[in-house]
Amino acid sequence: MLDRKEDILILAIESSCDETAASVVRNGREVLSNVIYSQIALHTVYGGVVPEIASRKHIEKINQVIEQALAVADKSFGDMTAVAVTYGPGLVGALLVGVSAAKAISFATGLPLIGVHHIEGHISANFIENKDLEPPFVCLVVSGGHSHLVVVKDYGEYEIIGRTRDDAAGEAFDKVARAIGLGYPGGPKIDKVSKEGNQDAIHFPRAKVVGAEYDFSFSGLKSAVLNYLNSCEMKGEAVNTADVAASFQKAVIDVLVEHSVHAVKQYGFDKFAIAGGVASNSSLRAAFEEECRKNKIHFYHPSPALCTDNAAMIGTAGYYEYLKGTRHGFDLNAVPNLRLGERL
Ligand code: KG4
Ligand code: ZN
Repeated sequence: MLDRKEDILILAIESSCDETAASVVRNGREVLSNVIYSQIALHTVYGGVVPEIASRKHIEKINQVIEQALAVADKSFGDMTAVAVTYGPGLVGALLVGVSAAKAISFATGLPLIGVHHIEGHISANFIENKDLEPPFVCLVVSGGHSHLVVVKDYGEYEIIGRTRDDAAGEAFDKVARAIGLGYPGGPKIDKVSKEGNQDAIHFPRAKVVGAEYDFSFSGLKSAVLNYLNSCEMKGEAVNTADVAASFQKAVIDVLVEHSVHAVKQYGFDKFAIAGGVASNSSLRAAFEEECRKNKIHFYHPSPALCTDNAAMIGTAGYYEYLKGTRHGFDLNAVPNLRLGERL
């Protein structure tokens, strides 16, 4: 039925949060199509992602997005080698839509099914445009749900050396944006408005976790911003939104840069990568660019469109899982709290 082919073509599906996405990736690093239906506009009115609405929209869009990914790549199901899908972590109802679609495709076509960890996908986004990047390296993963410092020992082999104790970096961006009236999604809005602000206007705390040099904590910073806003209101002082945004952003970036560079040096690597939605932040990229140059560390980052959720990154991670022999059965389920490196 399916011929042996020289090229390995992965059809990848991603639906863990509020993007319905599908992609065709050739030999791990060549993206033939990358279709994303973003639900952001739909959730903006609620100030954040509403899980039930996300699931329903995924159901409505998933087949269309998959068909489009194949059409843009000028391929059919029969040309594919395997189907890869995000099965966690994420919103359970949202994940289930992608997982069910992938299982149905696998059942109907006989293509092997490969479940992919969403964060493994984010990390793998670095392989797409950086053809020379090979493990081992240190990767900072900063998304809406995660802030991890990870040693990428080999393809698909990770050691988490630091994590957030409370809010994820993206979550802090989203909450602070809401507090200063910028709305959802907060990260890109803070990024933009910060360019008109003074990052040294207000000193917000840079939290350290005692006894865990690579861990992060952002909830104290978020509270400091809220306290600052309250005290301005009580004193009847006007709030300069751009200054608050820029000063908050600088506090987050300082901690991320300091911890990451320290880890790269301590572990003796000369390669460092960033991943996840927050990695598209322009000031964060500039700060890492400079600090890595000073410390003679090669700095890798995906282009902004590959930092936020997409299926191409799942196709790349799926390719390396395919090579390692990872195959899932039809009992593959959505795992909302799947841990990095965990294989279910
Ligand atoms: O990786 P992602 O698309 O989804 C998750 O897996 O969570 O990340 C979304 C997060 C949101 O919190 C969003 O506000 C943040 O990434 N984000 C940004 C920027 N673009 C997206 N944060 C800071 N600056 C940005 N430019
Ligand atoms: Zn993500």
